[in-house]
Amino acid sequence: MSAVQHRFTSYIFIASLVILLLILFHLQREINQLKDDRRKNSFLLERFSDLIELKEERNEPFSDEFPTPFTPVKNEQQYIIVYNRVPKTGSTSFIGLAYDLCKTNKFNVLHLNVSRNSHVMSLSDQSRFVSNVTDWTQKQPSLYHGHIAFIDFSKFGVQKKPIYINLIREPLSRLVSYYYFLRFGDNFRPYVVRKRQGNKVSFDECVEHGDRDCDPNNMWLQIPFFCGHSAECWTPGNEWALKQAKKNLIEHYLIVGVTEKMHEFVAILEATLPRFFKGATNLYEKGLKSHLRKTYNKVEPSTETVSKIRDSKIWQMENEFYQFALQQFNFIKQRTLIEVEDSFTDVGNQFFYEKIRPRR
Ligand SMILES: *[C@@H]1O[C@H](CO)[C@@H](O)[C@H](O)[C@H]1NC(C)=O
Ligand SMILES: *[C@@H]1O[C@H](CO)[C@@H](O)[C@H](O)[C@H]1NC(C)=O
Repeated sequence: MSAVQHRFTSYIFIASLVILLLILFHLQREINQLKDDRRKNSFLLERFSDLIELKEERNEPFSDEFPTPFTPVKNEQQYIIVYNRVPKTGSTSFIGLAYDLCKTNKFNVLHLNVSRNSHVMSLSDQSRFVSNVTDWTQKQPSLYHGHIAFIDFSKFGVQKKPIYINLIREPLSRLVSYYYFLRFGDNFRPYVVRKRQGNKVSFDECVEHGDRDCDPNNMWLQIPFFCGHSAECWTPGNEWALKQAKKNLIEHYLIVGVTEKMHEFVAILEATLPRFFKGATNLYEKGLKSHLRKTYNKVEPSTETVSKIRDSKIWQMENEFYQFALQQFNFIKQRTLIEVEDSFTDVGNQFFYEKIRPRR
């Protein structure tokens, strides 16, 4: 190779190197530019979804200026469930499931403690409760539970009503359970001294002597819990209260289960409100024993006692309400669940859309 030729190849080599470097430099700049754009875009996107959420919160309709590629944010964040639990219906076992699930399923559970165990609130307290529950968005999705009679949120002028759920029990079983609970407590809080601690009178003896604790009027509880905060609701034997309780059950409650069928109740909730109850059925089946709160020393009443109680007007009315709830529950259950090997699951989506027009 001559010296001239050699120098020529070197020039070519250096020139190619320079060009290559220039290309690389250019590419790097392009990449940076792209990254920058993406950052800006995602920032815009975030701002945009904030805006949409804000609009949703104000309940404003979407204006037409919005370009369409964004799907509206689901307002599931604003779910509120109120479970106005009736004492001695298995509510502690049930709410235990919610406490076990709240972390995984990302919702809040809040116990409403009403002073002196009163089941009715003053009007001003109702108003404070309604606006607090509605406005406390940091806690939503939220599940409130407490021994409180039904409150109609719309009376207080709020737009969003909560989802009501409840669980009721055959009225005599509930009374017997409560009777022994007051005397012996339960395995849930065994250390708590109960109101009638030390009293050894059985339910049968109580009925025989006509004592206050087994007075049929004590069964007047599930009707008023559903009837609500009107005066008549709390008058034992009031016919209007029974009607109103049924009406509220249908109009305001998503689902009312019965203690005797808690398994199915949990499965329906999981199928219907998975946002809260995903995994609940499995948890219930696994932890059946640990969740079950058991009243100590409970003795089943004799047939004589049972027939005596069943003669009372209060039992008959409360039982009518219970049967009414049970009928609704079975009706829902039949269409919602299938039973497979002692477990219940959602029958699944049974509807679809067709003939969607105009075609695109
Ligand atoms: C409600 O609060 C009172 C007073 O703090 C307390 O003694 C009571 O145990 C609470 N009730 C429940 C069911 O936790
Ligand atoms: C609701 O009440 C709780 C407890 O009193 C309070 O901490 C919270 O700030 C209230 N939330 C709203 C939105 O008023």
